Amino acid sequence: MEEKLRTILKEARAEIVSANFSDYEQLRIKYLGRKSALARSLRKIKDLPEKARRDMGELGNRIKREIIQLLNDLKDKAKDKARDGRSASFDPTCPGIVPDLGRLHPITQIIDDLIEYFRGLGFSVAEGPEVELEKYNFDLLNIPDNHPARDEWDTFWVNRKEGSKNNTLLRTHTSPVQLRYMKSHKAPIRIIAPGRTFRYEAEDATHGSVFYQLEGLMIDKNITVANLKAVIDAMVKHILGEDVETRLRPSYFPFTEPSYEVDAWFGGKWLELMGCGMVSRKVLKNGGVDPDEYSGFAFGMGIERLIMLKYGIKDIRYFYQPNFDFLKQF
Ligand code: PHE
Repeated sequence: MEEKLRTILKEARAEIVSANFSDYEQLRIKYLGRKSALARSLRKIKDLPEKARRDMGELGNRIKREIIQLLNDLKDKAKDKARDGRSASFDPTCPGIVPDLGRLHPITQIIDDLIEYFRGLGFSVAEGPEVELEKYNFDLLNIPDNHPARDEWDTFWVNRKEGSKNNTLLRTHTSPVQLRYMKSHKAPIRIIAPGRTFRYEAEDATHGSVFYQLEGLMIDKNITVANLKAVIDAMVKHILGEDVETRLRPSYFPFTEPSYEVDAWFGGKWLELMGCGMVSRKVLKNGGVDPDEYSGFAFGMGIERLIMLKYGIKDIRYFYQPNFDFLKQF
């Protein structure tokens, strides 16, 4: 009797442990059903002498409990699998697995938005290299060597030999695209040039050594400060809201004449948004444009700063960290 019971358990264990949930019901009947070997053996216990009856009764019940446990484990295994999504059997009552959807970075979103907006005004998109020639970044923009304005653009040099014409650097602004475009296209010109720029400076909440600018350049006959003001005002209203006022404040850039800073009245304060001005005669000439026939305006705007103002973001470094909690808010 004892041997018989132990054999039943051994068999049940071997079979149930390696079984699939789809075999559950069949195994339950085979090992616990009324006609199972176990049930038949248990029925015979009552005919045994008293001591054996007690021992076999105990053993039989223990074996029965163990088989029930094995079958329950089989059920749990099936549930775990369904939860992992690896099961062939699909349980429609399980909660779904929601994937984390990717999205465009807020900087990409605002650049896309501005490209779309300026397309509507007849502007096309131009690009220039991030590793730029010194002459495009500085000289042709009327910023000669030793000019004090070069101090404003602390530079990451890639190649620098005294007096060489082939010095390269990481562009400190997107303005060199103005020259590249003027040299390769005939006026009239209407372009924006969004892109990455680099400055060698200590990083903090409002300064990054890598940041984005959006350059604008419009050259045609009879372009005046009125056109400059109208385009910039419309762009700022598009991004920050129709009720946002702008103003031009006199400033200085070596490549524009006159030059201005654009301020926007936002959140109860005048906030500086970008530099701009009328492209200087000298720079037009450098680009192969006749300044007696054409005039134009240019502006250069920091993109991160604009997004920070718009959404009240306090630290520019958020844009460059893989922080999904930040990024998924846009
Ligand atoms: N390039 C200037 C800067 O980075 C901005 C600017 C662009 C000013 C075009 C005037 C015209 O500060």
